[in-house]
Amino acid sequence: MNNQTQSKILIVDDAVENIKLVTEILNRPKNEYHIEAAGDGYEALEKVKKFDPDLIMLDVVMPGIDGFEVCQILKEDEKTRLIPIVMITALDSQQDRLRGLESGVDDFISKPFNVYELLARVKNLLKLRSYISELEHAEQVIFSLARAVEAKDNYTEGHCERLSILAQHLGTELQLADEDLIVLKRGGILHDIGKIAIDDSILLKPGPLTAEEFEIIKTHPEIGENICRPLKTLKPVLPIIRYHQERFNGSGYPEGLAKHEIPIHARIIGLVDCYDALTTDRTYRKALPSDFAIQIMNKETEAGLWDPDLFKLLKEILASAKYKTIF
Ligand SMILES: [Fe+2]
Repeated sequence: MNNQTQSKILIVDDAVENIKLVTEILNRPKNEYHIEAAGDGYEALEKVKKFDPDLIMLDVVMPGIDGFEVCQILKEDEKTRLIPIVMITALDSQQDRLRGLESGVDDFISKPFNVYELLARVKNLLKLRSYISELEHAEQVIFSLARAVEAKDNYTEGHCERLSILAQHLGTELQLADEDLIVLKRGGILHDIGKIAIDDSILLKPGPLTAEEFEIIKTHPEIGENICRPLKTLKPVLPIIRYHQERFNGSGYPEGLAKHEIPIHARIIGLVDCYDALTTDRTYRKALPSDFAIQIMNKETEAGLWDPDLFKLLKEILASAKYKTIF
């Protein structure tokens, strides 16, 4: 086995003899793992960045920051939160286990070590890690596709990011749960992924579309849904992809849903999508000032296109100082 195929384990312990012991247990009889060690919490955080381990074995009591803090820092960081962490605790320390769980530990191993238990737990967590990595890769491909759609049209650059942020503002004001805010963030990026299948001559056409061309554009929500459906982790985002072109009075597509039949996440994304489109340069016109865009959307809301409560909230957010400091 070489460094490329070996799973990487970081052992964090201030006692050198513990590091030696665990390394010996793990790598006996053959060198199955690529193991590195850190002597304290700060060194551990540095090593995680460079070594990018598949698993971390973490001692509780260490000089400087302890194991709980190290764990919490790693679990709060987007880049490291999916690395499984095993905490090494004293056998009878119920309190350590509770604190460990609170800081996001994935599993525990008690001292003195039971060799078979240690090996079995490490194997299980590494298996979990490899499943998660596969999923991450699949998701990355889908998100790259969505960004490729955006990149096709220089005029829309940054559109998805802005959309995500504005949608999350609306979600926060509506006091939606944290999971919903994540769905909005991802939906903002993925909602138009189905446009990957639409010919550029239609997608980037500077003039008005023919009826036939519009029929083709109207297929993008369902195509997008089909692209993302195989990935179970994207299930909560599917309603946004499918229904973001529905309109409050039932005049949208693909199903012509009206009012609260349109899922709230899709209503939010549809609304902020329109505002951002109006306020950025397009192939067929220059960006409109925010006030002018709001005037247009006021009229559209009177005509029944947008959820009036959501639109009112959007106007409040756009006028608030908090929002202005972000953009
Ligand atoms: Fe769309």
